[in-house]
Parts: sequence; C-alpha cells; structure tokens
Amino acid sequence: MNILAELRSRFAAALRRLVEDERTVGELAGLVMPSQDAKFGDYQANMAMALGKRLAKPPREVAAAIVERLDVSDLVEAPDIAGPGFINLRLRDSWLAGVLKHASPDLERIGVEKVAAPRTFVLDYSGPNVAKPMHVGHIRSTVIGDALYRVLKFLGHRTIGDNHIGDWGTQFGMIIYGWKHWGDEAAFAEAPVAELTRLYRKVNQLAESDEQTAAAVLRETAKLHAGDSENRALWDRILPPCLAEIDETYRRLGVRFDHALGESFYEDALAGVVEDLKAKGLARESDGAMCVFIEGFEAPFIVQKKDGAFLYATTDLATIRYRMREWQPDAILYVVDHRQSQHFEQLFATARLWGYDEVELQHISFGTVLGDDGKAFKTRSGASVGLTGLLDEAVERAYGIVCENDDARPAPLLSAEDRRTVAERVGIGAIKYADLAHNRTSDYKFSYDKMLAMTGNTAAYMQYSYARVSSIFGKGDVDPAALRLSAAAITLSHPAERALGLAILQFSEALDRVVADYRPNLLTDYLYDLAGKYSAFFENCPVLKAETDALRTSRLLLCDLTARTLQRGLNLLGIEVVERM
Ligand code: ARG
Repeated sequence: MNILAELRSRFAAALRRLVEDERTVGELAGLVMPSQDAKFGDYQANMAMALGKRLAKPPREVAAAIVERLDVSDLVEAPDIAGPGFINLRLRDSWLAGVLKHASPDLERIGVEKVAAPRTFVLDYSGPNVAKPMHVGHIRSTVIGDALYRVLKFLGHRTIGDNHIGDWGTQFGMIIYGWKHWGDEAAFAEAPVAELTRLYRKVNQLAESDEQTAAAVLRETAKLHAGDSENRALWDRILPPCLAEIDETYRRLGVRFDHALGESFYEDALAGVVEDLKAKGLARESDGAMCVFIEGFEAPFIVQKKDGAFLYATTDLATIRYRMREWQPDAILYVVDHRQSQHFEQLFATARLWGYDEVELQHISFGTVLGDDGKAFKTRSGASVGLTGLLDEAVERAYGIVCENDDARPAPLLSAEDRRTVAERVGIGAIKYADLAHNRTSDYKFSYDKMLAMTGNTAAYMQYSYARVSSIFGKGDVDPAALRLSAAAITLSHPAERALGLAILQFSEALDRVVADYRPNLLTDYLYDLAGKYSAFFENCPVLKAETDALRTSRLLLCDLTARTLQRGLNLLGIEVVERM
C-alpha cells in the first residue's frame, strides 16, 4: 500500500469534477503531501490556493468544494480545513491497523507494491580506470549506483547495471612503457597488481617532469590503439589480474553488475561513430580535429583528435548507441563525479541531435570526499587513499568497537568468528552509509569516528536498532514466523505506537522519493526517522510486559514489521544487518 498515492488518486477523482484538464488535475493532486507536523494530521492537501486562483474563488470555499466531492471516508477521519484553505487529513486508526496487518505476512516486500508501469534503466556506475588501484573517489559512484540499482529493481523496474570500466586509456601506455623498461617477471608472477602499480607510479612520476617520457607513453598508447601486436599482447596479460583485483573489491562491498563493457569493448565502433556524425552533418573539422558544435557551449565536443585518436567522448557516444540498440532503455543514469558535468551535458546534447531524443539521459552527479582539512581526501604523502586500505581500516576499527561492547557484557555473546563477521558488516556498512546519508551533490568529510558512532544517523546505529528490535523475539521466546500467521489484530492505542505504524507504512513513499531525484539519502533519512519512532514506541509501550496478551501480540507484530523494514531498507542501500552486535 502506498498511502500517498492512494490519497492523490482519491483527490484526483474529486478534482476532476471541478477542473476539466487532466494535466491540471494531476498537478493539483500532486499537492497532497505528508504533513511536516503531526498536529496538522498525517497528510495535508494544499491545492485549494492554486485552484482558488484559477477559479477566482476564495481558497477556503474551494477547499470546501473539494472536500464535499472527496470520497475518502474509509481511510481518513472527516477532513479539516485550516488557515487559508489547507485540507488536513488524519488516517483512521482502524484503517492503518488493517493495512499493517495486511503487510505483516508479506515477507519480502512488507506491503510495498511494484510500479504499475515499469521502465528500463541502464545504470552506469563505478567505472574505475583499471591498472591503477581503486581509491576513495571510487566509493561514491560504486555505492550510490548500487543503491539506486537496488531500489529501482525492488520497485519493479527493469534494471541493467553496466560497469563502464576504463580499460583502454593512457594508463596502459604508462604500464606498457614501464614494463618494457623495468618490468619484473618474477614480481609480476608473485603479485601482478602490485608490480603494475609500481610501474604505473614510476612512469607517472617520470612523465610529469620529463617531456620525452610523456611523449613515449603517448606513443605506446597510440600503438596499442592502432593494433600493434606486442602492445596488444601485453594489454591482454595486464588486464585480467587488474580485473580480478577490482572484482575482489566488489565482492567485499557486495556490489554486482550485469555487464562490464569497458571502453575497449567499443574500440571497433569508434570510427563508425565519427563517420556517422559527419554524414549527418553533426561533426565537422576544425583545426584538424573532428568536432560537434552545440549551441550554448563555448567549446566544441571533440570526437577525434588531429592525430586521429578517438576520445572518451567518442567512446561514450558509441556506448549510447550500443545500449539503445541492445536494451532499448527508457533512461540511462551515469553516476559520475560532478567534475565531469560539462562532458555529460555535451554528450547528452550530442546524443539528442544524433537521434536519441526520447531516452532520459541523466548525470547523477556527486561531490568530493574530503579529508579533515576540508580538501580532497589524501594520504599524508599526498597520494590518493587506496580503497582496500580504507575498507580494512574501517573493519579493524569496527572490530575494536564490537569487542569492547561485547567484553563489557556480563557474559560476552559473540564467538571469535561472530566478532569478525559483525566487524566486517559494521565496518563496510559504516563507509557505505556515511556516503549514502549525505546529499549526493554535496562534498563530505571522511571521518571514521563519525561513521562508526553508535548514535546518530550512522550504519552502526541502524544495525544496532535492527539487532535491538530482533532481540525481543529471543527474550520473549517468540517465533516470528508463527506470529505473522496468527489471526491477532494490530491495535494502535498509544500515539507512539500509531506513529511507528504510520512510519512503517511510509516506506513505500520514501522509496518513491529516492527514485524521483535519484537520492539515496532520502532513504537513510527515512530509516533514521523510523529507528527514532521505534525508540519512542519502546520507551512508552511495554511489549513483552504488555497489559494483555492481545496487546503483546499486536506490539510484537509491530516490532517484527519494524525489524523487516529496517533490514529491507538497509539491504536496498547494500548494507547487511547483524542479529547481535
Ligand atoms: N572511467 C571514468 C573515470 O574514471 C568514469 C566512467 C563513467 N562512465 C561513462 N560512461 N563515462 O573518470
């Protein structure tokens, strides 16, 4: 059940009897919102002001006319018209209780319906440039993309995750150049990625200060692209261990993709793309380079350089064409750093001119991960922070906290193995949650202390809340599976109980908000609020010691729904729960 959608459709039916135009009906019905403040009811409809203007009538009068035509008595109490014409709606307790009871046996979805009209989404996320170690900057794209993928899929959309890895860029020129001069077979056999990283760092440093090295690197890249057999064979050797390394990181993060069609996959299509753009009159030569000039942009979108080389832009155009042919998506979402916004604006404008003008192309941009000093997060030596080390440290610190908490118990609950599992989930969860909880367009400061805190809007707090709710079942010796099947009714007698019940049912609305603007932080906000409502409920409403058996069962049902909503919500963020911590 999606309460907001239900109310909007009831309002639309009433509005249709006051306005002709269906679009206006939809817009006005969209002005039903959850209330900011419980004293104005659960939901509020604010369309009387806008409609009053259109009809040249006082808004309070218009509000009364809407209410008169509104058929909602099965789910809300008599609507109340307030102030200049706000319509305040309070759901009936009995109706809320019934919907909760209905959601209770729905294990997987907790009553969240799939969308009526599923769309096809291609999600382009992570996309590391392989052959250099993954660093802190890769977290955001990977984690935000994965969360959006999970939410869209859960809502019933067709989702295709495609990792557009950078497996064809100048970093290969560096490594090939390095290999030819300083490559160490034994070291490569022993630890391939470490050896490649060594070569990459060495050449990268040399190329920065020495023009000849820089030029030689470019020549190696050009040779690779031109099909030189030696460079191609080296590339074939270098790539697999690099991919294995990033796959290991994905495994640890619990992130997966349906495809990983990297830049190299499009190599053969690039010349054709440029030809086609030329033939359609979209690209023309300027200073020897092939350019697409787009209105509103000062710089042209370059698709082929003077020396014949193709660019990132060319590959991205070929990728759009491939995805459109292969999957016919309704939307392609690019979860990429905000610094690439100009690239995507030009890419999308070019694609539209090229004929892809129906598909929704979106740059899901995000800000930078900052260090304590407010600058991009770097190690003390100024290098970017490696992702593996970052995860290790979070897990190690989580392990310390888990052991400390457990040792403080009269009798520790966790085995040595449990402690390790919990620490891994808490540590990785902390990194993910801290990233997702920030509005993606802002920068945020990376802080282990903050992200691992047991209170506040953190993964540890959410995981703890989940564990706390579930522990009730053990304490009361209650089997949740049997509980869900019982005929017992849910009652919402205490305000804290009612507020919790309503919050559980609003999960579906939170997911809609996430998708509306592709913002996972709206889900963390929701979960944090839900955990808070649970705390208030727990303080005010005895569960195991409830006055009657019926009330005890009703409250246990609410606990179970809360636990499952927290678990599902965290799962959609890619975070695992623990039963004890
Ligand atoms: N490899 C790119 C980088 O590290 C990101 C790729 C993003 N996706 C895309 N289709 N351009 O900057």
